[in-house]
Formats: sequence, C-alpha cells, structure tokens
Amino acid sequence: MRISGYILAALLIGLTANAAARELQGVISECEACHGPGGVSSDEDVPSLAGMGSQELLDSLEQFYFYERHCSTTTYRHGDRPKTPMNMCNVANTLSAEEKSTIAGYFADQ
Ligand code: HEC
Repeated sequence: MRISGYILAALLIGLTANAAARELQGVISECEACHGPGGVSSDEDVPSLAGMGSQELLDSLEQFYFYERHCSTTTYRHGDRPKTPMNMCNVANTLSAEEKSTIAGYFADQ
C-alpha cells in the first residue's frame, strides 16, 4: 500500500512537470509567432531574440511589463496569423516571473 502511494506521488509529480513544460512550449510558440522560429526574425519591424543575452531579454520584458518602453501593436507573422494583433506590454503582462526568466534563458540559448 505504502509503496503504491509513493509510485502514485512520483507519477503525479511527473505529470505536473510535463504539463508545465507543455505550457511553456505554448508560450514560446506564441513568441515565435512574431519573432520567428528560434527567435530569428525575418521581419524588419520585429527584432530577433536569438543572439540577445538572457539578462538583456529579461530587462526588456520587465520594461514592457511596467510600460516603461513603448509597445507597438502588431500582427502575428507565423502560425495562426488572423489572431487579434498584440503588443509586447500585453504579452509581458501574461507572464509570471518564473516564465520570464525561463523564456529569457531559452532565447538566449538560440
Ligand atoms: C504580436 C507580436 C509579438 C508577440 C506575440 C511577441 N512579440 Fe516581442 N516584440 C514584438 C515587437 C513588434 C517588438 C519591437 C518593440 C515594439 O515595437 O514594441 C518586440 C520586442 C521584444 C523584445 C525587445 C527586443 C529588443 O531588441 O530589445 C523582447 C525581449 C521580446 N519582444 C520578447 C518577446 C517574448 C519573450 C515573447 C513571448 C512571450 C514575445 N516577445 C512575443 C512583437 C511580438
């Protein structure tokens, strides 16, 4: 009985971690819908994220989060293009502190 409890707990932890990873992948694809696959942009008005340092990425996201930087509303370039145009301030405000740093790390590694 005890052992199966441990197995169940381990399974649950595994499932939660997987769900978090899946959600994060969803957020990253949202970024890539404008910034290009791997954060390499093919559009002049959207900067590439690949090649930026993780601190630089994080600082920019914080600036958008606090509306300290201008946010231009723009259309999606890849994937589901007819989606409602978005801007970086709104994008940054949907992210938790943990997501911001994980995403900054992801694009810094591209
Ligand atoms: C609807 C399109 C769109 C989406 C979605 C989007 N961005 Fe942006 N992003 C932009 C545009 C356009 C800019 C240029 C600044 C501006 O005009 O607001 C920008 C700027 C940035 C910058 C500043 C880059 C620099 O050169 O300083 C960072 C960092 C950034 N985005 C990260 C992200 C991340 C991370 C996500 C996903 C969570 C994301 N963006 C989602 C369009 C988008």
